[in-house]
Amino acid sequence: MKEKPIAANDLVITALEKTDALPYDLLLIADPSKHAIDKYIFDSIVYKADLKGRTIGCYALFGIDHETVEIKNIAVDESFQGKGIGTILLNDAVEKAKLKGLKKIIIGTGNSSVGQLYLYQKVGFRITGIERDFFKENYDEPIIENGIECRDMIVLTKEL
Ligand code: ACO
Repeated sequence: MKEKPIAANDLVITALEKTDALPYDLLLIADPSKHAIDKYIFDSIVYKADLKGRTIGCYALFGIDHETVEIKNIAVDESFQGKGIGTILLNDAVEKAKLKGLKKIIIGTGNSSVGQLYLYQKVGFRITGIERDFFKENYDEPIIENGIECRDMIVLTKEL
């Protein structure tokens, strides 16, 4: 039997204060390089999702310009994946961007991240660009996922 999904009401999503410790254990699930994370995380608003007092997910919003924000990092604790939390976090990010009066929200993922490409399109993002060789040029180690090399960044956009 399929496990009961987690409802949005079960999660408490809050923005971290600048003085709060960053949830690197989660951030590193989405982005394997701390060096890469540190290039955007201090200029992002990081939101954490708590379930019964335990932080099990997070996402980071980075302002691109006056009308666009990017989800730079989104992650759910491995033991809680596949229960609908990622969908709740994506929809929460979309709502936050709308409330700020923004026009577009973007997210980038690797060409090999087939599940993520499925999920982002399912919540309404459309492919709007490809940054060829982004991962080859910005990461020291080759990334292999789903049996293929992660080379290109696929950029997806949702109009708000
Ligand atoms: N592989 C296959 N399918 C997936 C994957 C995946 N990696 N992620 C989500 N899906 C599918 C689910 O099966 C589900 O399908 P269904 O609606 O048909 O049942 C659907 O997408 C929604 O899944 P959720 O349960 O809402 O997503 P989840 O809670 O697992 O969170 C997330 C998705 C954030 C991608 C999570 O799996 C995760 O943390 N993965 C590792 C980190 C990662 O890859 N982060 C994104 C990198 S890109 C970036 O950060 C900008």
